[in-house]
Amino acid sequence: MNNEDIPNLTAFDEASLGEAFATVERQARNAAAALGTPEAVEAFRLEWLGRKQGRLNEVSSRWLKAAPVESKKPLGLRFNALKAVVEGLLDEALGSGPSDAALAAEAIDITLPGTRRLTGAEHPITKTLNEITRVFAALGYSVGVGPEVETDFYNFESMNFPPGHPARDTQDTLVVANQERRSQRDRLLLRTHTSPVQMRTMESQPPPVRIVIPGKVHRNDAQDATHSPIFHQVEGLCVDTNITFSDLKGTLDHAMKALFGSAVKTRFFPSFFPFTEPSADVQISCIFCGGKGCRKCKNSGWIELLGCGMVDPAVFAFAQEKQPAYDPKKISGFAFGMGVERIAMMKYGVSEIGQFYAGDMRFLGQFA
Ligand code: DAH
Repeated sequence: MNNEDIPNLTAFDEASLGEAFATVERQARNAAAALGTPEAVEAFRLEWLGRKQGRLNEVSSRWLKAAPVESKKPLGLRFNALKAVVEGLLDEALGSGPSDAALAAEAIDITLPGTRRLTGAEHPITKTLNEITRVFAALGYSVGVGPEVETDFYNFESMNFPPGHPARDTQDTLVVANQERRSQRDRLLLRTHTSPVQMRTMESQPPPVRIVIPGKVHRNDAQDATHSPIFHQVEGLCVDTNITFSDLKGTLDHAMKALFGSAVKTRFFPSFFPFTEPSADVQISCIFCGGKGCRKCKNSGWIELLGCGMVDPAVFAFAQEKQPAYDPKKISGFAFGMGVERIAMMKYGVSEIGQFYAGDMRFLGQFA
């Protein structure tokens, strides 16, 4: 565009003035709408508002000079209005970054359907963890956590697995490399169970304690349909005066009924864990056949679900080093530990543990 595009004005009546000014204004608006870069904006300013060669200057000298005296006033008014429009266009271009044209290209078409976002949902393991902790929270238990990279002391020694004790071999432990310079008890490993948080809890607070500890644990196990090297447990610990094995039985019987339905029965079998004495394995009546015997319970009518027992005095002795109130002559307690995947598999009828970790939306979506 150059100044030749400015129409010549030969008549000065209102209609002719209106048309001529409208033409120039349209030119200015079109030019402004196409501005994209700061350089283009500056060129627009020079082209339209430049003192000597600017188009407005040209309009003013060509039209105003030629106008008869009685038309100078209306022409001047229109000229001032046009100048204000062009200055406004420049301000807009300077301040607003992208041009109207660029914005129009990006504009949202509100008549199109929106992008639908899927609502997230709890992972079945998280969901089961929460269900378990809720059952105990309703009994007055608090919830705690502890580190996944743990010391030999908390994972084993304080849980009454002395160095070299064969019970350590039952938990295939993944250890952190290059720890030889540390003393045995300070060596780091991936915790094989949530039980070390029992000790961390007792060290940090005197009795009474009622706590559940959900968390991730690691073992050097090969993956198969029911095993994974990384899985989850919920640990429980209750310490107070006069806590008995009946309290343990009543608590876990209630918890199993709350988790699997009131028809479920429990039974306690003698077992061994270094940190409890006596220890028991808890079995529940088979939730698939109601106890009659089926493939899932290997025709026994019972399914083994968790370990538990009365806290071993040797464990209290470790706690007493930091909290003297854990005196096994004055207090007693019980503990339990359960595998979350195993419970989730039973509750939701999942036959492959790997499904929980595969991230397959067709599987996970069923729990939404
Ligand atoms: N820590 C045990 C394991 O991983 C489970 C367990 C058994 C926890 C008995 C306890 C307990 O607190 O009393 O095999």
